[in-house]
Amino acid sequence: MPTIERKHVRRVSPLFVVFGLVFLFAAYNLLHMVMHNKGPNPGAAVTDALGMSDPVTGLRYHVAVTATDAPYSQWQCRIMYYWYKKVRDMPGSDMGNFTRILHSGRTDHLMEEMHTFVVDPLPDGLDRGYIVLNRPWAFVQWLESATIEEEYILMAEPDHIFVSPFPNLAKGSHPAGYPFFYIKPAEKAKIIRKFYPKEKGPLTDIDPIGNSPVIIQKSILEEIAPTWMNVSLRMKEDPETDKAFGWVLEMYGYAVASALHKVKHILRKDFMLQPPWDLEVGKSFIIHYTYGCDYSMKGELTYGKIGEWRFDKRSYLSGPPPRNLSLPPPGVPESVVQLVKMVNEATANIPKWETLNRS
Ligand SMILES: *[C@@H]1O[C@H](CO)[C@@H](O)[C@H](O)[C@H]1NC(C)=O
Ligand SMILES: *[C@@H]1O[C@H](CO)[C@@H](O)[C@H](O)[C@H]1NC(C)=O
Ligand SMILES: *[C@@H]1O[C@H](CO)[C@@H](O)[C@H](O)[C@H]1NC(C)=O
Repeated sequence: MPTIERKHVRRVSPLFVVFGLVFLFAAYNLLHMVMHNKGPNPGAAVTDALGMSDPVTGLRYHVAVTATDAPYSQWQCRIMYYWYKKVRDMPGSDMGNFTRILHSGRTDHLMEEMHTFVVDPLPDGLDRGYIVLNRPWAFVQWLESATIEEEYILMAEPDHIFVSPFPNLAKGSHPAGYPFFYIKPAEKAKIIRKFYPKEKGPLTDIDPIGNSPVIIQKSILEEIAPTWMNVSLRMKEDPETDKAFGWVLEMYGYAVASALHKVKHILRKDFMLQPPWDLEVGKSFIIHYTYGCDYSMKGELTYGKIGEWRFDKRSYLSGPPPRNLSLPPPGVPESVVQLVKMVNEATANIPKWETLNRS
């Protein structure tokens, strides 16, 4: 987004900014329609493809991770990138190039280490302290201006570790997503209906997913991303919705936006596992270390209570975890053991691990 616009919106009220941005997206969309000679109903292409005639998979996907320049985000990106490089070249992997979409609006010192695309954050105050609202805006800007050779995109997050080479899980125009147990559109009917009115269809149209992890055709994400941003901002603006959804608001934003475009995701439980709840890595593709792992020395989970042994990313808000973290005591699930081993392998091999990204 050109700087002129940013300067302009900074001076005006946040509410105007929402409509200003919305107008901007309308302009983007229009431009797109004109350039690609598309009709105004992009969802139709997706519905048409609901037959089984989709092309085979095996097409490469671009790995895109949205991030900030905070040390907390940086060290996670470095670990993720380490495993990306290892897994990308293994047989059975459809991974293509990698981009860190940095939504801090300025470069940082990891630019040399990994391919990074800098985008603007939302105008001041618009995220209301909820930083992940920047994600849809980051994707909109990146898709608009970057050259992406792959036809598909994996939307990933910094706390993802790739555990095994993974194929393109999307099938033609059907994206693949991970079903989160706590995303339950049908149980939030009153709220959801504000953004997905009855005439759009049943609430079961809305997948129990967030934007990540998702593998999706680039052209479909281009359609969804502005709506995702639009819906997320409107959800955040609405106090009742903000309260009901809390930190998962932007996930609902993506789920609703994709339904508005008539896009259904193939739900893949094996897309990712989340220690300490998932006990074994098995055949999953990503370890997501969003939950703290707390155990007694007897190997008992003490979730919610600081354990005698613990690994929690939030212990390292201002700088990276040290190299060679101690392994969990006997009795702790394999998923947690593997997570710590993989963190240790990455940190042992990344140059200047403990000095480069401190705040
Ligand atoms: C991958 O990204 C690099 C930049 O890091 C670029 O030079 C290269 O052309 C890209 N390759 C493909 C196949 O997109
Ligand atoms: C954003 O939401 C508003 C309100 O529903 C709608 O009028 C507008 O068309 C939407 N814009 C985009 C780009 O989705
Ligand atoms: C890692 O720590 C263990 C003790 O927890 C120690 O035995 C081992 O030598 C250390 N490894 C490295 C490479 O520092």
